[in-house]
Amino acid sequence: MPRTPANAPIMILNGPNLNLLGQRQPEIYGSETLADIETLCAKAAAAHGRTVDLRQSNHEGELIDWIHEARLHHCGIVINPGAYSHTSVAILDALNACDGLPVVEVHLSNIHRRESFRHHSYVSLRADGVIAGCGTQGYVFAVERVAALAGAVSTEA
Ligand code: DQA
Repeated sequence: MPRTPANAPIMILNGPNLNLLGQRQPEIYGSETLADIETLCAKAAAAHGRTVDLRQSNHEGELIDWIHEARLHHCGIVINPGAYSHTSVAILDALNACDGLPVVEVHLSNIHRRESFRHHSYVSLRADGVIAGCGTQGYVFAVERVAALAGAVSTEA
């Protein structure tokens, strides 16, 4: 298994259309932006001695490249794959290559109360935990869970 640095950041990955948070269907996704989520997550991570590395892409391959990066350089992954949750075997495969790395999947909306095509997530087959329907607070829960699973930050040199 690849060894990540003891004080490695938490990777927070966001899939397609999440760059439009705050403008996109606010009745479903709320009025907060990705920048607001980054602030919330950084605060939650700091309480565990961790930092966050938040990224967003509308491109499946770029998300996969970032999962490969997290495999080597991050202590865990929080991922909102957006619509790729319901379609992407490739993202599932990338996560399955991250042996032992904590992965928590988050959805702002409660996908189980929405259209039936949103009820299934490929990513859930690998995720250690799944949070849906808690809005931006779900990201905070996910960061706390990844930090707990990743363990204490070492202060040793
Ligand atoms: C989402 C739910 C998905 O079904 C949708 O395609 C998204 C956002 C959520 O955060 O609720 O883009 O992942």
